[in-house]
Amino acid sequence: MQNTPHQRNIFLVGFMGAGKSSVGKALAKILGIRFLDLDDAVEKELKIPIAEIFARFGEEYFRDAESAALKSVSIHEAQVVATGGGAALREENWQAMRRSGGVTVYLRAPAEALWNRVKGNQSRPLLRVENPFERLVEMLDSRIPLYEKADIAVNTEGLAPESVASLIARELLDIYPGQ
Ligand code: S3P
Repeated sequence: MQNTPHQRNIFLVGFMGAGKSSVGKALAKILGIRFLDLDDAVEKELKIPIAEIFARFGEEYFRDAESAALKSVSIHEAQVVATGGGAALREENWQAMRRSGGVTVYLRAPAEALWNRVKGNQSRPLLRVENPFERLVEMLDSRIPLYEKADIAVNTEGLAPESVASLIARELLDIYPGQ
């Protein structure tokens, strides 16, 4: 028997500042399931903040930890998972999300909107460079084709997290009617 959306895992993907955590919390509330943040899971596992993981061990080490966390999260069901913005980079991560019977949802936003949400926040090591906005645009451009692999894409610009969550919940009902 097919899972209902409430049992299915929902993985939110998208760039830093797309609102994956705030939308994820709101969506989990609507669907009555648990919310999990993948960055938090990695930090809990390694017991140090992400910026420090990058600084001490480098990006590849972080990516390995992120993939491992995604795999162990994917064993469970009925959860909304906010992935990190770079989780879309590895094919093995997409496979883990799909294997778990999960639905992937891309939170789309233009570079300016993302920038407005991340500027001034020092917790993202990849944007701690001399020209962070230019870096953001470059990274976003190279990642868009990956994010677009998601099952559902939602335009988030100008919308509150609760509105985005309602849109996603409605899309899920369209895809899995009567559930
Ligand atoms: C990253 C995004 C961050 C975090 C890390 C790397 C990325 O997560 O995983 O700093 O490569 O885009 P958020 O998208 O939750 O900020």
